[in-house]
Amino acid sequence: MKRRTVMTLSAVGAGVLALPIAGGAYLYTSTRRDTAGDVPFDNPLAVPPLDEGDLRGGARNFSLDAEAGETPIKPGKATPTWGFNGSYLGPTLRARRGDDLRFTVRNHLEETTTVHFHGAHLPADCDGGPHQAIEPGGSWEPEWTVDQPATMLWYHPHPHGNTARHVYRGLAGLILIDDDVSDGLDLPREYGVDDVPLVVQDRNFDGDNALEESETWTSTTGIIGEDVIVNGTYGPYFEATTRRLRLRILNGSNARVMNFAFDDDREFLQIGSDGGLLTEPHRTRRALLSPAERADIVVDLEPGETVVLRSLPVEDVGVGSIFKRFNGMDDRLDVLQIRAADELADSPEVPAKLAEIASLSDEPAAERSFRLAGFSTINGDSMDMNRIDFGAQVDTVEEWTVRNTDEYHHNFHVHDVQFQVASIDGEAPPPPLAGWKDTVFLEPNRDYRLRMRFDQYTDPDLPYMYHCHILFHEDFGMMGQFVVLGEGEEVGTVPDMAAHGDHG
Ligand code: C2O
Ligand code: CU
Ligand code: CU
Repeated sequence: MKRRTVMTLSAVGAGVLALPIAGGAYLYTSTRRDTAGDVPFDNPLAVPPLDEGDLRGGARNFSLDAEAGETPIKPGKATPTWGFNGSYLGPTLRARRGDDLRFTVRNHLEETTTVHFHGAHLPADCDGGPHQAIEPGGSWEPEWTVDQPATMLWYHPHPHGNTARHVYRGLAGLILIDDDVSDGLDLPREYGVDDVPLVVQDRNFDGDNALEESETWTSTTGIIGEDVIVNGTYGPYFEATTRRLRLRILNGSNARVMNFAFDDDREFLQIGSDGGLLTEPHRTRRALLSPAERADIVVDLEPGETVVLRSLPVEDVGVGSIFKRFNGMDDRLDVLQIRAADELADSPEVPAKLAEIASLSDEPAAERSFRLAGFSTINGDSMDMNRIDFGAQVDTVEEWTVRNTDEYHHNFHVHDVQFQVASIDGEAPPPPLAGWKDTVFLEPNRDYRLRMRFDQYTDPDLPYMYHCHILFHEDFGMMGQFVVLGEGEEVGTVPDMAAHGDHG
């Protein structure tokens, strides 16, 4: 992979930027993709099976089997894919705050993988990052107690150097968490009926419908897919039966930033972000999601109408126009057609007040700065499985200032915690970024001040990750490691066994 990657990088530098002007102009023009009105929408949207676990021994027990298979996606041949408990994606796991979760994860693949619980607050040895490797034929049994607000998280592999490929082949799934707050709100909640998860992913298919796995040669972020699939369905339509439809959207792409909107530019309400409900619904026409970010939205429907969810060109976010174009940010892509039935069941008004969010205003115990640069570095270093970059003290709030120093784009994700965006270049964040977040898009050359509290789980030796969630950058090393320290503890050493996850 390294060799191909290096070639890709130099192609970008020396190839695209040094193309003869006419060739470059042609490439620039022809790279923009527009599928508006061209997607057939003739496949019913697949909804991942809901799995509430087996209640045994006072815990919710889940089984996840990573396996290879074939999935019919585009017309013609089936596509070789990977999935959990099936051939593509995995079940939607559902649990409540306070539940004890127990997992049995088995790896039926021919290579080492891991299963990371993205956005979950959990002990480091249950995180499923690169140190919790599961060998072929092996299994892994993490368990923890859910203690975080109602939201939608997701799970996906995290084997260092191979995350992009494993996720791209289809290994990903959702986790819905409920709590007393979400139960007390009159929100659409019938799974697959008026509360519908959307795992939106871009993919490239070759002439035999196999997934093309090589990085897009013009991009600086790895694979930019020309086709969009939702929950594994190509050209999906959803038949709505209610006046209000809640869509929980995950940008599950490896690299593509998506700017969700409806084709008639109607307004909708964003009610939640990565880590929970917002304090109040945010009325908007756009939801910008970089890879791994989620938006919980509610849209009103009229009987008998048809409306299309699409991804519009990304508005000005300070990314250089060449990088924007070659990373798909000028594209317009149809995502999902919603067909409202002639008679729609009534849905309650969305409540004006949602969750309480106490702001993390404690005096930070530590301030840290993170500078993302190139394809592979944070503060000048690339990921090293054996290097712990720092230790955070348990029961303290830290303030991290994160800056993308490039002309192109990155995002930033932190394991174990949900953070608050305290400010962006000194200004209060816009409403979609004002709730709990675990991943934030980084416009170039702006300071994102993030605040987070570390609590409960400590381990001086076993690290959590922070990284760019553009998987090509993450695999290439744009990732660091931290530990959470108990009272009186000091940063330790990554255990030997743990480091064996690195089978590049
Ligand atoms: Cu979604 Cu470190 O990952
Ligand atoms: Cu994560
Ligand atoms: Cu990046």
